[in-house]
Amino acid sequence: MQIYKVGGAVRDRLLGKPVTDIDWVVVGATTEEMLAKGFRPVGADFPVFLHPKSGEEYALARTERKSGRGYGGFTFHASPEVTLEEDLIRRDLTINAMAEDDEQNLTDPYHGQRDLEDRVLRHVSPAFAEDPLRVLRVARFAARYAELGFKVAPETLELMRQLSESGELEALTAERSWKEISRALMEEQPQVFIQVLRDCGALKVLMPEVDALFGVPQPEAHHPEIDSGIHTLSVLEQSALHKQPLTVRWACLLHDLGKGLTPEEEWPRHIAHEHKGLKLIKAVNERFKAPKDCQELALLVGQYHTHGHRALELKASTLLELLQSFDVYRRPQRFEEFIVACEMDARGRKGLEQRSYPQADYLRGAADVARGVAVQPLLEKGFKGPELGEALKRERLKALKAYKESASS
Ligand code: CTP
Repeated sequence: MQIYKVGGAVRDRLLGKPVTDIDWVVVGATTEEMLAKGFRPVGADFPVFLHPKSGEEYALARTERKSGRGYGGFTFHASPEVTLEEDLIRRDLTINAMAEDDEQNLTDPYHGQRDLEDRVLRHVSPAFAEDPLRVLRVARFAARYAELGFKVAPETLELMRQLSESGELEALTAERSWKEISRALMEEQPQVFIQVLRDCGALKVLMPEVDALFGVPQPEAHHPEIDSGIHTLSVLEQSALHKQPLTVRWACLLHDLGKGLTPEEEWPRHIAHEHKGLKLIKAVNERFKAPKDCQELALLVGQYHTHGHRALELKASTLLELLQSFDVYRRPQRFEEFIVACEMDARGRKGLEQRSYPQADYLRGAADVARGVAVQPLLEKGFKGPELGEALKRERLKALKAYKESASS
């Protein structure tokens, strides 16, 4: 049997990037031989094994054919006769379809190295279409390697467009899609992921609520970029530039969905878009079964981002309601994430990327003030149950009034 390193490990070594996990392909072997060498099978009918010591994945060279819709609809053919070239041709991109032996001799039948040099993301063969998840994968690689100048090849974008129109994307499970989306959002240029999905028509299928933002104008005074979709991409870009966590990036992507619902005659104003957008945010959250913390923050940022921007003008009572809605007493981190999401929203505007955002520290200060109200003296006065809650609220309101006055003096 011959063993080769394949996929991302070869690609990233040639790009001079750190290699995190290594995939191997085994040519000329049978399942029985692998088991006899101590490899552990990953699944019952999948020709992939884990190395007994390193735990790395070793897959028997295989060809695959699609036999139905969705990911389950595959038949594999793994046998000692399947060649390395046959295994590589069923892979997604030429830059992912190179193999290397233990002396770093490259097998590159589909010119992945040339495409690496030319900075092109190109599909290997029509077999690309056998896994619709690859539409998301290509967009994710485009986001990851944008800083190196990589672009999707026109013929690959065309194939992605056909796949998007074919209805195949609907067959993807929430789990597989979310895995790609969440990884893509954590790349250095997540806005490129969304842009590429939009360019091939996949955004309209996966997140029509985000797609609908493009072409919708906003008032130029606050939004020199005008277009709501462009604004969303910029907010996402800011969140990555500021190294924000996934929760914040997800919230940035979804914060303005309500703007896509505004009747044209009301443009460029978007009255109550914060509230109107909530049902759309909920739908997107649920479609991809986003983790609970991502879901929650997206809804809260959607509902309250304008409050964030107006923080300095809010009445003390409104400020208190905001803090209560976030449960800042028990969930300080979530409020901090809200604050930075608002800041990204304020900076994701053409020419305003460097603006200061005094609202952030003002809100942090307000949360500290509200948290600083001690319960003990109220307990000593004999308050309990709902009355204690009311008394705490009154004290917090008093403290916030004083905070507001001192901030404006
Ligand atoms: N692959 C594919 N189609 C998929 C998933 C994977 O063709 N839907 C192939 C590609 O050759 C890929 C390899 O399997 O390079 C390994 O896949 P994976 O580990 O998911 O990705 P990597 O390319 O290693 O990239 P990453 O750095 O994102 O892990």
